[in-house]
Amino acid sequence: MLTKRSYIDGIHPEAELLKEGAEWLRSGELVAFPTETVYGLGANALDAQACEKIFRVKGRPQDNPLIVHVSSRAMANSLVGSWSPEAELCVEHFWPGPLTLVLPKTSIVPDIVTAGLANVAVRMPSHPVALALIEETGLPIAAPSANLSGKPSPTSGRHVWRDLKGKIHLILDAGACQVGLESTVLEVTGGVPTILRPGGISKEALEEILGEVRMNTPTESQVPKAPGMKYRHYAPQGEMIVMIGHQERVIQRMGQEIYKGHARLKRVGVLCTLESAPFLHNRLPDLLFVLGSRARADEVASNLYEGLHLCDERGMDIILAEGIEEGGLGTAIMNRLQKAAGHRIEYI
Ligand code: TXA
Ligand code: MG
Repeated sequence: MLTKRSYIDGIHPEAELLKEGAEWLRSGELVAFPTETVYGLGANALDAQACEKIFRVKGRPQDNPLIVHVSSRAMANSLVGSWSPEAELCVEHFWPGPLTLVLPKTSIVPDIVTAGLANVAVRMPSHPVALALIEETGLPIAAPSANLSGKPSPTSGRHVWRDLKGKIHLILDAGACQVGLESTVLEVTGGVPTILRPGGISKEALEEILGEVRMNTPTESQVPKAPGMKYRHYAPQGEMIVMIGHQERVIQRMGQEIYKGHARLKRVGVLCTLESAPFLHNRLPDLLFVLGSRARADEVASNLYEGLHLCDERGMDIILAEGIEEGGLGTAIMNRLQKAAGHRIEYI
């Protein structure tokens, strides 16, 4: 298949490109498009066959449901059977934006979209291209992240191209995504709202509006409520270790691991904070990528996947990543880092 990668204006998207994307979507094909979190691989959410293609192209397990993207409240109403007061508050305060709401589905939502679950995950993205594309299509759009299953999520058109060229017709490329981490998935079916996946909207921000909010942290033996959380995810090709703790000791440990890696003729990449970078330079890693300041979780979030992709592109055998403090966006960042590292994490 020939894949067209079209550069689209991220603020004032060109009408012809939106039309082209909408035509593919209406005819049951897949289109990759930017959102404020990560790029999505879109299909008509009401067309089970189109949605099936998403699973095939990504190599995604069938029991992992898809988020449905909408451009209006009326469109969301057609998918959701009933709205709790908490859900209403979320819509009012956080839509459009990086918050996905899990709510009872209506019968128009095909089973493949929810993996047979009674609830559907719905999100109104804030990226102008995403909103305009959904509106132009006139249909709700099911879209997981536009990467191959298990790989780091795509935060630029280049990342999508690397994973999906030859597999879909069109990539709408508007450059880098602003948030850089996936949306927060929140179950709001009644009772205490529960975070099924931490993401772009922090627990603290939700609590300000909703009061008590729970974090669903399934243990290894439990079945997670967001089925996607059980798979190895976001993983680069190299062997990855996350190190967190006292800054000087982290730098020291990274220095040792770089030395050990080089002794085994391995290429070692380092993802670190702005504050640690000057001290890691002279340890001579094969790649030194600055995630952002320790004090700016938003910066780290928006650069994280670019760092993981670069390590893959430059063939790093070993990746050492500096962790940051939990809380706020830090919680979502550490969630992704731990998964990318297959839970190899050192507290130093
Ligand atoms: O920011 C995002 O959320 C991006 C952009 C493209 O919108 N999308 C995204 O989709 O990250 P995906 O498929 O990579 O992750 C969706 C997550 C998975 O963990 C999945 O299990 C969960 O949402 N999910 C989807 N539908 C669900 C449902 N009905 N009930 C519970 N969890 C659900
Ligand atoms: Mg994903």
